[in-house]
Amino acid sequence: MPTGKLIEHSAVISNTKVAEETYLIKIGSSHIAKKINPGQFINISIGTQFTDHLLKRPFSVYDTGPGHLSILYKVKGAVTGQMTDLKKGDKLEMVGPLGNTFSNFGKKTILLVGGGIGIAPLMLAAKTLKKKNKLIILHGVRTKKEAISWGQTKVKTHIDENKGHFVCEETEDYIKKYSVNAILTCGPIPMMKRIAEVARLYNVFVEASLEARMACGFGACVGCAIESKQGFKKVCTDGPVFKGEELW
Ligand SMILES: Cc1cc2nc3c(=O)[nH]c(=O)nc-3n(C[C@H](O)[C@H](O)[C@H](O)COP(=O)(O)OP(=O)(O)OC[C@H]3O[C@@H](n4cnc5c(N)ncnc54)[C@H](O)[C@@H]3O)c2cc1C
Ligand code: FES
Repeated sequence: MPTGKLIEHSAVISNTKVAEETYLIKIGSSHIAKKINPGQFINISIGTQFTDHLLKRPFSVYDTGPGHLSILYKVKGAVTGQMTDLKKGDKLEMVGPLGNTFSNFGKKTILLVGGGIGIAPLMLAAKTLKKKNKLIILHGVRTKKEAISWGQTKVKTHIDENKGHFVCEETEDYIKKYSVNAILTCGPIPMMKRIAEVARLYNVFVEASLEARMACGFGACVGCAIESKQGFKKVCTDGPVFKGEELW
């Protein structure tokens, strides 16, 4: 285990369904919650009752507060399926903070575009960036069942089935309308690639948070390698946040 990373045994505080197959889990955390920065992730295993899953699973941190952190997760397979059964007091193990962070900006207009569950890391970034920057937050979902009710938080939801096109197809309009200086994005690769291509035409800086299948999560297994313009990079330690120009 590299230095600076913490292992925390924690208990679930709450676990709530927020949209179709999408849950927000709040977990007690006295150490990782204090150290984690926007863009970083944690590795989770969900307790001794689930020992058939040897590998921890990576999740972005969606929010932090005194003594807790939250994860917004989508049901994909075995572990995320079992996570939906977790109740207050159930135990889990977390390792983190892992990976790099989004850049710090000051006095910029920043567009944040999350595709599906890709909105998760952007919300912690938004919480930090809104102190100094003007933000426009876009959440792209395929169907209205996947739309999240954001309450007081200002998020524009783009529903593909209503609009007839993907959220990335609106990048140019947003860049022009709001004089956007930078874009942070997380979601499907084709979505982020399209955003980076349009942003390049307008000289707008892009950072993209990538997902990859991971094993160790801290650079030892090379299981998460992706090809960048400078050769292979490990998503877990060189990323998950990359400059758009490094990739596309
Ligand atoms: C840095 C990082 C941050 C992440 N943050 C979040 C988050 O905030 N919320 C969230 O819901 N998910 C997040 N993920 C994805 C999450 O790790 C996977 O959904 C989870 O590992 C699936 O576990 P499972 O056992 O339920 O599914 P499995 O049974 O392992 O897999 C089910 C299906 O999902 C696919 N899959 C699993 N993991 C990934 C992946 N990383 N990339 C692409 N396809 C995958 C598999 O190929 C398979 O088809 C993140 C991944 C990374 C690398
Ligand atoms: S997950 Fe092992 S090197 Fe990235």
